[in-house]
Amino acid sequence: MTSDARILTALRSAPESGVSGATLASQLGVSRAAVWNHIEELRRLGYDIEASPHQGYRLRGVPDCLHADDLMSRLGSVKGIGRDIRVFNETTSTNDVVEKLARDNVSEGIVVFAESQTRGRGRLGRQWVSPAGKGLWFSVLLRPKLHVSAATQLTVITAVAVVRAIERETGLHPEIKWPNDIVFGAQKCAGILLELGAELDHIRHVVLGIGVDVNLTAAEFPEDLLPVATSLREQLGRPLDRASLAVALLRELEAAYTRLRAGDFLEIGDEWMRRCSTLGKRVSIRMADRVVRGFAEALDEEGALRVRTEHGRLERIIGGDVTLEK
Ligand code: BTN
Repeated sequence: MTSDARILTALRSAPESGVSGATLASQLGVSRAAVWNHIEELRRLGYDIEASPHQGYRLRGVPDCLHADDLMSRLGSVKGIGRDIRVFNETTSTNDVVEKLARDNVSEGIVVFAESQTRGRGRLGRQWVSPAGKGLWFSVLLRPKLHVSAATQLTVITAVAVVRAIERETGLHPEIKWPNDIVFGAQKCAGILLELGAELDHIRHVVLGIGVDVNLTAAEFPEDLLPVATSLREQLGRPLDRASLAVALLRELEAAYTRLRAGDFLEIGDEWMRRCSTLGKRVSIRMADRVVRGFAEALDEEGALRVRTEHGRLERIIGGDVTLEK
């Protein structure tokens, strides 16, 4: 952990009376002057740190911006997802940044956030609107030992993790629309974009991109998206602390990924099915070359959707755009 992260950790766990400069200096193994410099740096970033001569430092408020040291401090030391976190003010797409890290042989678990993306992308070549400071736009590098055909499992476990984190942080109950939309009714609040680097039939790396519309107001969505998009703020009626949601998301992702590696996919798949608004409904699924209409029956052990077509045939769908039929 960096010095800033350690200072923030110490301030967060300090009693109401605060923590003295001498204590921070000895915990960090640096001088009190060095502690002061770090505190000044954190203040410049917007952290409201009170210093009183007798009681020491107290954390009074945090800025509404993502700061890698702060996220790592809140997360505590982890070996898996979030072991290293980078935050960009602006980037084309966090998936591009993580793809580059993957090619540079960086090991799994690194997470890249951006306050805004100039070319955020969604599934099926769509644009992903990513305005500054309004959402969580981030990507995770994974190197799972999975056959390419089981990649959908990662989407499934991610959707469950995202719903769990939102529930934990807001008390709201979003649902999952197959394969990877997190929705409130017909309106989507989060999406997942999985991009694979694969060799023959095994996965070399996965870039797991997640976008959550956290604090956008209705007026901040493009007009054509209004009927189909929403934010957690709109659903909750108040803005949310993005950093705290980010940490909850990384914790849930790590927990779900650990379970997947331990061979627990079916259990997570069951939870996915309970939380899914697509199953048990008549659907039409638009794919690149055709449209399948039928009844969404279940999720299979590789994460594919089993659809009973109008002709009674069972189709196994691994991707596409789902519309619920009336
Ligand atoms: C979808 O539902 O179509 C997927 C949306 C995924 C958006 C996220 S935001 C972070 C990451 N970077 C991108 O360019 N896309 C993903």
